[in-house]
Amino acid sequence: MAAKSNYAAVFVIGLSLLIAVAAEDPYRNFEWHVTYGDIYPMGVKQQGILINNQFPGPEIRSVTNDNLIINVFNELDEPFLISWAGIQNRKNSFQDGVYGTTCPIPPGKNYTYALQVKDQIGSFYYFPSLGFHKAAGGFGAIRILSRPLIPVPFPPPADDFTVLIGDWYKTNHKALRAQLDNGGKLPLPDGILINGQSSGATLNIQPGKTYRLRISNVGLHGSLNFRIQNHSMKLVEVEGTHTIQNVLSSLDVHVGQSYSVLITAHKPAKYYYIVVSSRFTSKVLTTTGVLHYSNSAGPVSGPIPAVPNPLMSWSFSQARAIRTNLTASGPRPNPQGSYHYGMINVTRTIQLVNSAGHIKGKQRYAMNSASFYPADTPLKLADYFKIDGVYKPGSIPDQQPSVPIFPVTSVLHADHKAFVEIVFENGEDIVQSWHFDGYSFFVVGMEVGKWSPDSRNVYNLNDAVSRCTVQVYPRSWTAIYVALDNVGMWNLRSELWERQYLGQQFYIRVYTKSASLRDEYLIPKNALLCGKAIGHHK
Ligand SMILES: *[C@@H]1O[C@H](CO)[C@@H](O)[C@H](O)[C@H]1NC(C)=O
Ligand SMILES: *[C@@H]1O[C@H](CO)[C@@H](O)[C@H](O)[C@H]1NC(C)=O
Ligand SMILES: *[C@@H]1O[C@H](CO)[C@@H](O)[C@H](O)[C@H]1NC(C)=O
Ligand SMILES: *[C@@H]1O[C@H](CO)[C@@H](O)[C@H](O)[C@H]1NC(C)=O
Repeated sequence: MAAKSNYAAVFVIGLSLLIAVAAEDPYRNFEWHVTYGDIYPMGVKQQGILINNQFPGPEIRSVTNDNLIINVFNELDEPFLISWAGIQNRKNSFQDGVYGTTCPIPPGKNYTYALQVKDQIGSFYYFPSLGFHKAAGGFGAIRILSRPLIPVPFPPPADDFTVLIGDWYKTNHKALRAQLDNGGKLPLPDGILINGQSSGATLNIQPGKTYRLRISNVGLHGSLNFRIQNHSMKLVEVEGTHTIQNVLSSLDVHVGQSYSVLITAHKPAKYYYIVVSSRFTSKVLTTTGVLHYSNSAGPVSGPIPAVPNPLMSWSFSQARAIRTNLTASGPRPNPQGSYHYGMINVTRTIQLVNSAGHIKGKQRYAMNSASFYPADTPLKLADYFKIDGVYKPGSIPDQQPSVPIFPVTSVLHADHKAFVEIVFENGEDIVQSWHFDGYSFFVVGMEVGKWSPDSRNVYNLNDAVSRCTVQVYPRSWTAIYVALDNVGMWNLRSELWERQYLGQQFYIRVYTKSASLRDEYLIPKNALLCGKAIGHHK
């Protein structure tokens, strides 16, 4: 009798656990206050943008499928938004936090983002997307861990460090913005920061142990090289993909990109330089930090390890060697190679050529001659409420037209479930870096010269890495494949922040006729309304 009722009790508990798990993924709640505050990253006082008094902002730690509820209070004197580069916000571009999807949070007001890191793992970061705020801070790391029972293709590290690197200006963000608004360009940055510091950033380690470093380039301008004196690094993850574990003496991180490496403390216990220097710039900026073995005394000594050369061919061959470990698991237990992207027929090819020029005497940047200007209403809200006259789908061509740069609120119309090849062409002398919100894509090719249909012969159709930010080398091209399986309005932009600000971005409207919640969520109940969307019913 007793035994029987015990079984019943176990059964009831088991069932309720099942229901709880199936019904809802875990929630993590954050309350963030965004303020100005004094910071001294380069030794002189500057007005920074702080989140809960921190610069860089607090780190978001999450696990695959978590719901992240982030209530952001804007205590600045300007409209503000945070974007979550790399978090895909599936079916929910309303939460993307860029101009085209989400109304800005007015000064003195708050907005609660509801994000879900659905089917994602990896290292990313968030940043303020409007008004050149990124030049003042407001950025921080996001990590998405694998769920407990899903194998990760390396032993658990002794610790897991965030390393945010980026170039930096001593000038206030409003002054930088005014320079751009007045038609000018920005000078080279003043320096480089590691976790908000231009010198002395320290990682504490213990002899014999292995550590994970999650390195993101949160800067504004350029590519950076990361290296540690006398220590090699093992590459393990790129923006949510577990990679073939190449051993590297240093790593090029282009603007907006994120990588995880493992390092082992296998050298004599002392202090070693951590070095970050600018790449592809006329003047090389360098910043050092310290890898500090416990029970050892400083200071660091010996030569600072040199940047690898020759620049272009070294960086190219490193980039081409970054490949997916097809047998490792990703967010789900099945191997990452079980999706055969190389077997799918491309339904559309888009060639995007970047260019620079002038409109009404002011410096502008463009893709296929379209230089982006925001309209008065977020594009996603214009779509949702069927408000005419905000933008025209198809306002950016699939190929470079033979017309000079023109101003437009550029939106590319694409069908849900299209499988698209995008070729980024760069005839300039700079390294370009492109990010696509809401997606990760396969980087199938990257070569010097001009792309032609024959270039497809060198595509990697087997184990290309899937990521969300990719570089294009000077006078070179990069090709990606992307499955447009996420309905919404998604920003494709240069991560070179001056170029993004001056027009080098547009939106891809991934569209389906179906109005099913399976494909896209409704507008959030708490969504702020602005522009022509004011007064519409949610
Ligand atoms: C602002 O914060 C309050 C709690 O302090 C919350 O109830 C409200 O929903 C938030 N507003 C928005 C638009 O998310
Ligand atoms: C790929 O992942 C598998 C599974 O975790 C692992 O055993 C293997 O060593 C990895 N291969 C490489 C080359 O990194
Ligand atoms: C560190 O590297 C320098 C230069 O490559 C070399 O001379 C030195 O012996 C190395 N020290 C250790 C502890 O590996
Ligand atoms: C791709 O296209 C080829 C030729 O048009 C066709 O034979 C093949 O079945 C298609 N493959 C898929 C997976 O649709």
